Amino acid sequence: MSPVSNPDVTRAGSGQTPGLDHIAIIMDGNGRWAKARGLPRAAGHERGVEALRRTVEAAGELGIRYLTVFSFSTENWRRPAAEVNALFGLLKSYVHRDLSRLKQEGVRIRVIGQRTGLPDDVAALVEKAEQETALNNEFFLTIAFNYGGREEIARAARRMAEAVQAGTLSADAITEETVGRYLDTASLPDPDLLIRTSGEYRLSNFLLWQSAYSELIFADVLWPDFDRSCLESAIAMYHERERRFGAVLPGAC
Ligand code: FPP
Repeated sequence: MSPVSNPDVTRAGSGQTPGLDHIAIIMDGNGRWAKARGLPRAAGHERGVEALRRTVEAAGELGIRYLTVFSFSTENWRRPAAEVNALFGLLKSYVHRDLSRLKQEGVRIRVIGQRTGLPDDVAALVEKAEQETALNNEFFLTIAFNYGGREEIARAARRMAEAVQAGTLSADAITEETVGRYLDTASLPDPDLLIRTSGEYRLSNFLLWQSAYSELIFADVLWPDFDRSCLESAIAMYHERERRFGAVLPGAC
């Protein structure tokens, strides 16, 4: 990955993609990709990891600083145990294989979602990846794993209620900004662009709070086939859109 040359650039964009700092992706379609080839679903997830590697690389080269991907949802526990275990195994092998390279390239890894409920070895590896990259600031890779947007908001509300009870937070002082600080994504900017692959048109409980003003792009490509050209197309579409954040622009429509 080519790291972004100026780590101080934040909301203004990097220059290559002005105004576009943070891309979030719902990596959907692994199962269908595998089924179309007569392969087990896990094979689709394996190819999905390769697509993730390509995308991290391409995003860095294209000047994106924040990439957040949906890898395992709180609803995914309903899948057969073998598939759930395969996803745990893929997260572990991704960290084992890629951590030292990502660390060297200045990537900060963060895993968002519920930590409780994860197998101990997965939780320990996640912790290690976060700790070892905590000082990096060239590129921010956030992996949503055992993540659900509603659960994240409920957990934040619980923690705010506890702080109010403890007297460290005043109920009157709770603003949108306060809520943001209690979410798993605290300190990350909201996604400018949210991409979902595989032709489905849903958010599926991903970044519900954070995507309030994100541009949404739905692509037909199945995630294992996602590559740099898909990312470039999505970025080009993003730049064709006007972001108004609720304001009305003058002119006829
Ligand atoms: C959705 O496809 C995808 C997932 C539930 C898992 C996404 C995981 C990866 C891309 C690889 C894991 C990466 C890491 C770092 C752990 P689906 O299985 O729902 O596909 P379908 O809708 O075609 O069945």
